[in-house]
Amino acid sequence: MTDHNEEKKLRHGDVVELTIESTGFEGKSVARLNGLVVFVEGAVEGDRVRAKVLRGKKRFAEAVTTDVLVPSPKRTAPRCSYFGTCGGCKWQHVEYAAQLAFKQQHVADAVERIGGMKDVPVLPIIGSRDLYYYRNKLEFSFSDRAWIAERPAEGAEPEGSVCAVGFHVPQRWDKVLDVHECYLQSPLSNGILNAVRDFAVRHGVPPYSPQSESGYFRNLVIREGKNTGDVMVNVVTFEDSPETMQRLAKELTAAFPEITTVVNNVTKRKSQVATGEYEKVYHGEGIIHDRIGTKLFQISANSFFQTNTAQAEALYAVAKEYAALRPTDTVYDLYCGTGSIALYVADAVKQVVGVELVESSILNARMNARLNGVENCEFIAGDLKDLLTKENTWRNEHPKPDVIIVDPPRSGMHPKAVEELGAMRVPVIVYVSCNPATLARDLQLLSQHGYRTEKVQPVDMFPHTYHIECVARVVLA
Ligand SMILES: C[S@@+](CC[C@H](N)C(=O)[O-])C[C@H]1O[C@@H](n2cnc3c(N)ncnc32)[C@H](O)[C@@H]1O
Repeated sequence: MTDHNEEKKLRHGDVVELTIESTGFEGKSVARLNGLVVFVEGAVEGDRVRAKVLRGKKRFAEAVTTDVLVPSPKRTAPRCSYFGTCGGCKWQHVEYAAQLAFKQQHVADAVERIGGMKDVPVLPIIGSRDLYYYRNKLEFSFSDRAWIAERPAEGAEPEGSVCAVGFHVPQRWDKVLDVHECYLQSPLSNGILNAVRDFAVRHGVPPYSPQSESGYFRNLVIREGKNTGDVMVNVVTFEDSPETMQRLAKELTAAFPEITTVVNNVTKRKSQVATGEYEKVYHGEGIIHDRIGTKLFQISANSFFQTNTAQAEALYAVAKEYAALRPTDTVYDLYCGTGSIALYVADAVKQVVGVELVESSILNARMNARLNGVENCEFIAGDLKDLLTKENTWRNEHPKPDVIIVDPPRSGMHPKAVEELGAMRVPVIVYVSCNPATLARDLQLLSQHGYRTEKVQPVDMFPHTYHIECVARVVLA
């Protein structure tokens, strides 16, 4: 063991002892050995571990913990039995308080190092109300190739199973970990998962196999209206078999009366995306509803909705507070998705204009406005990179906004869009972000247009993962 420690480069299979010094990019534990950075899976800041090297490069290595020699005080026992194999919830072995502290620091570092802003207050992170069962949507995959091994050794083949339903093992998209209990959605969701697997096995209905391009079951998507109690079961299949679906819907709704709708998405596509070329409804209305604040949202099998309802409300509440809205205000909700922020703030202002790239999201946003009797929101489809410039007629048809709320994807805003946003000289910008690095970059760009970031509020929506959301209040200096 010590022989390797004296060598510069680590090689696959080397076993080393490491002290975990910090938590780095994407929540990976970081150690140092003879000047080399080692990213270690399954460890926690403060641990002393024995680890096996998976990959050795010139400047860094990747390793996985085999034994914890001295546990960190930040360590806790993971609740889930699939921890270490399943790709989700990678931080279950880290105390929640330590997860939050890491996220807080991560945001502060991004603001300071990437954004170059030293004095911006980063407020204490808002933790998640629920640490388990917080998701309103889970997507399981079916496979005839189950991953049962504790940890997939490189190149190893898994043990077989006739029908696995669960999650793909990281980096093995052809294999599925057969999951019987997951703490992400609800005990009901686990019951449905196991009942569908049992149905497939009992009736001999095979999982779809991309290798042979045959079989039936592809995905099971369960959606819950956390604030309404609605439950949707969406079965994605390769074949259209009304008889099988009728039987499945009958069995499921008899066993779980909580299910309000059962739909079947049928797709012959090779890609593993769980959307159908067409959809059939076998029970209920084919849609569910959920509520954020006072607003009701209609959710179909393939429509976007924030996955942690309780924390979405916490995030929107901060955004609304930071916007400091007045009844006379015109607000732009840019990257509005299905309009949930626009509808959340609509009652407080004169009007809201939402802009979003995806046409179907705009249709959903308009429908959700009608559903709630909201008449002061307008939604426009288009790419903000092009739509923000002054020449666009929609800009001239609407009053200059008093407040702009932006909620871009992880990649942040296109530089052209930031440029236009800065040039608009709107007094208050509220920037909602799911990526501190791109948030900090864009805040820096806005500062070149005379904007000052007043404060940043981190909000945790995804416990046991490294993901973190933020809201920043930006004002004209
Ligand atoms: C983080 S989501 C925001 C969702 C919404 N605000 C919510 O809370 O439900 C980002 C949205 O930006 C949209 N988007 C991505 N690139 C865009 C672009 N270039 N122009 C306009 N919208 C874009 C995506 O389709 C997505 O709906």
